Order: sequence, then structure tokens, then C-alpha cells
Amino acid sequence: MIPPLLERYRSLLARDGEAFAITLGEGGTPLIAARRLGAEIGLAQLHLKFEGTNPTGSFKDRGMVLAVNRATGAGAQAIVCASTGNTSASAAAYAAAAGLPCHVILPAGKVARGKLAQALAAGARLTMVDGNFDAALEAVRRLGAEGVAVVVNSINPDRLDGQQTAAWEIVDVLGRAPDALALPVGNAGNITAYWRGFVRYERGRPRMLGFQAEGAAPIVRGAPVESPETVATAIRIGNPASWKGAVAARDESEGLIDAVSDDEILEAQRMVAGLEGVFCEPASAAGVAGVRRLRREGRIGPDEVVVCVLTGHGLKDPDAVQAEEGALTPIPADLASIREALEL
Ligand code: F0G
Repeated sequence: MIPPLLERYRSLLARDGEAFAITLGEGGTPLIAARRLGAEIGLAQLHLKFEGTNPTGSFKDRGMVLAVNRATGAGAQAIVCASTGNTSASAAAYAAAAGLPCHVILPAGKVARGKLAQALAAGARLTMVDGNFDAALEAVRRLGAEGVAVVVNSINPDRLDGQQTAAWEIVDVLGRAPDALALPVGNAGNITAYWRGFVRYERGRPRMLGFQAEGAAPIVRGAPVESPETVATAIRIGNPASWKGAVAARDESEGLIDAVSDDEILEAQRMVAGLEGVFCEPASAAGVAGVRRLRREGRIGPDEVVVCVLTGHGLKDPDAVQAEEGALTPIPADLASIREALEL
């Protein structure tokens, strides 16, 4: 059996004698060689780090497992987070396993259905606000400062420490860091954590390529966005908490942070599923959309080793996938009609 994530990287993460009692089997996600997608984009060595196979279907579990173990160890009475969806699903699951109450503050009407279902199923206490993620996070910061609950957003350093493990896993599989690593950027914690992870592991440093959605691209524009909008609701964030960390990752790695349109995101999501059989949520496809464009512009070479991080599972957001017109209209259940429909 593969040891739990925190035990596997114990020497890099644990404090003296620290026990990690809570695990849901997080990490150890596949690095998939994307041959057909690579051929389509013009990359001989494209890999997909599919974080959708984590216990709650996103990369958030890597940091949440450490944050909840530590919160429990410190005698926390409850945990709290603001979320565009995935953090709340992860927090709810680990809180359930720890026997802790979990409060989640969510932007009303903008959380994908699967994520909401996950938080509800695990018994989290949901509060919807008439406002966006940024407003919810501001409220959570204040609750944390009052000491009523431990904040498990990525402003909690344990979250980013745990998320470094994804970088270490990639290096362990490839034998070295890739030439470039592409990923979506929302609250900017993940790009910060990956970069720290690569630097710390000392087996090469990729160019960090972060992608925001055009309607929610504060780091690209250089100023907070008042009313962020994008189909990729996971990254619908106008004032990222780890802004400085993302800029440091970009500049120290000689990488970039750019914006991709909702159309480019959805097309990339379809390509990943249709060419590789890997179903990720819209936000997760932002890295692929960005790499596709950079390759087209010659800003990534054909033989570079590129890893795109697919941050969350497509089943979290089933509404983002549209059927072709008429495809779901029933026909008579006889062989002749079915044969006609199949055009056989
Ligand atoms: N991809 C997915 C699927 C996400 O859920 C998130 C963030 C990101 C990318 C961006 O990562 O914030 O570290 O830059 N989701 C957070 C949440 C905000 O509340 O679930 P980031």
C-alpha cells in the first residue's frame, strides 16, 4: 500500500513527533502522458497532472489534510472557510473525518452543483452571501481573527505547505522538474505553493505559467477586479489573497501570468476530455488553453517538457457541459429508429 501523502513527505512537512491521524487517501494523483492532445497542440512531451482523483475531486485535499490535522492537534472547536466551491467540499470532508463542525461561506448562485452537494453531504453549515468570493473571504478573515474557528483558506500556511506535495510528486515521476508548468490562477495559492515546492525540492525549476479567466484577471491587469465574471466559477476571484506569491513565482521562474477567454477555456476542456478521456472542470482547463496559445505563438518550444495541472474533476460542474442540439431528445425504442438515428 502507498503510505498516506503526509507520511510519504514526512521529512519535508512534519514537526517533531507530529502524528497525522486523519487521511482520506489524498495525493498520488496520476501524471498522464497526453499524446493525442500533445500532437494536436504541437508538443511532444505534454503531461496532465490530474488532481480530480483526489478524495473530494480537487487539489485542495493536499493542503486541507495538513490544515485539519494541525487544527485538530491544536484543539480547534470548528473550522471555517470562504470558497468558490472546491475548498468548501474539501474542508467539509476532512472536518467530517475529524469530527469538527465546518462553516462555509459561499457566493450565492455561483457555486457548481457537485461542489455544493459535496459540502451538504458531509454536513457542513452553508451560508450563502449576496457577494463574491472576495467579500466572503474578508468576512472569514475577521471570524478567524476573533478566534471563533480556524480558517482553512489558503491564508492558513498549512494549506500551501501541503499543496507543495503536487510539485514533489511530479518531480518524483519525471526524475526532474518539467521545463514549464501551467495552471489556473484564482486566489493564487496553488501557483505560490507549486513554486515553493519546486524550489525546495532542488531538482530543477520550471517556468511557471499561470492563467486567469479574462473576466477575472486582476494579476494580469495589475489591479483588483470589482465584479469578476467567468464560466470557470472556481477562479471567479477579483482580489487574490496570494497575489504577491503568484508574482514572485512568475518573476523568479521567468514565467508569466496571462488571461484566457471563457471560449478558450471551454474548448480546452472539450479537447482534454475528447482527446485524452480526462474530464476536468472548466477552471482546470485554463492551463491547457494558455499552453495551446503560447505554443501557437512559438513561446513554448515543441520539445519542451510541459505539465498542465488539471485542478478539479469535471463531475463537479456537470452544467458546464452542453449537449449538441437534439442529442437528448428521445426517439422510439425500436431497432429501425435507433439505426436511423445512428446513421448506420
Ligand atoms: N482550479 C480549481 C478547480 C479551483 O477550485 C481553484 C480555486 C483554482 C483552480 C485556483 O487555485 O485559488 O490556489 O489560485 N478554488 C478556491 C476554492 C478559490 O474556494 O475552491 P488558487
